[in-house]
Amino acid sequence: MTQALNSLTNLNPYFLKKHIRVRKATLEDVDQVYEVACSVGRSEKVAEQGFLVDDYLSNPRYYKTKLKRRIKRLSHFYVAEFDKIYGFLMAYSKDEWLAENPEWIEDIYWRPDFNKSKLDDFVLVDKTAIMSQLTGMGIGSTLYERLKSDLRKEGIKDIFAETIISPEPNFASLQFRKKQQYTLSGTRYEEYKGTLYTDLIYHKAVE
Ligand SMILES: CC(C)(COP(=O)(O)OP(=O)(O)OC[C@H]1O[C@@H](n2cnc3c(N)ncnc32)[C@H](O)[C@@H]1OP(=O)(O)O)[C@@H](O)C(=O)NCCC(=O)NCCS
Repeated sequence: MTQALNSLTNLNPYFLKKHIRVRKATLEDVDQVYEVACSVGRSEKVAEQGFLVDDYLSNPRYYKTKLKRRIKRLSHFYVAEFDKIYGFLMAYSKDEWLAENPEWIEDIYWRPDFNKSKLDDFVLVDKTAIMSQLTGMGIGSTLYERLKSDLRKEGIKDIFAETIISPEPNFASLQFRKKQQYTLSGTRYEEYKGTLYTDLIYHKAVE
């Protein structure tokens, strides 16, 4: 399968869905994962296209090391591959997430109707990113299908994910959550590199 990106962008989503393969990431994938991150994680944020908060081009060595560590440590780090990697999904188990963010559960303003028993065991999808020219073609959904399939086998029933709404709303991510039938479960304020972010906390049961 040697079709290149240029021709890929002309393909329809049905073709892509059929040929994209999702697998667990390995350390050899870091350069390609970084390339995907750079395509949607820049200094300029485009709300309609979706974005990652960090500017990955600003410090390649730092971000590659960070990605490498995550690939090594996280139980659910996937890549979507055709002739090369076009997307990735990085999720933390509850223990992995709380080890890095011990105050996370207490920091959230949970909706009054949110059932906190869903916090007994979960994964948190920290980042999903698709090569900028290929968003909206089903790759993100395919990555989620693989995650859900693995979670079913592991007996994990709940997924959380965050979407930024301020200072810049991530409209693509909001739409994606809606399409994936997430429900809003809370709000969190987070200071990161001198900026105060507002995140919506979404929940989804693994069917
Ligand atoms: C958000 C993202 C992961 C979704 O993956 P994807 O492969 O584009 O999504 P899929 O094609 O599987 O699903 C498409 C659905 O997502 C939503 N969506 C995806 N891109 C969108 C965009 N640019 N604008 C509006 N909605 C969008 C739509 O609801 C769409 O459904 P539709 O095709 O029926 O309209 C991807 O767009 C992306 O990487 N964006 C940049 C980075 C980012 O914002 N990541 C999320 C924050 S961590």
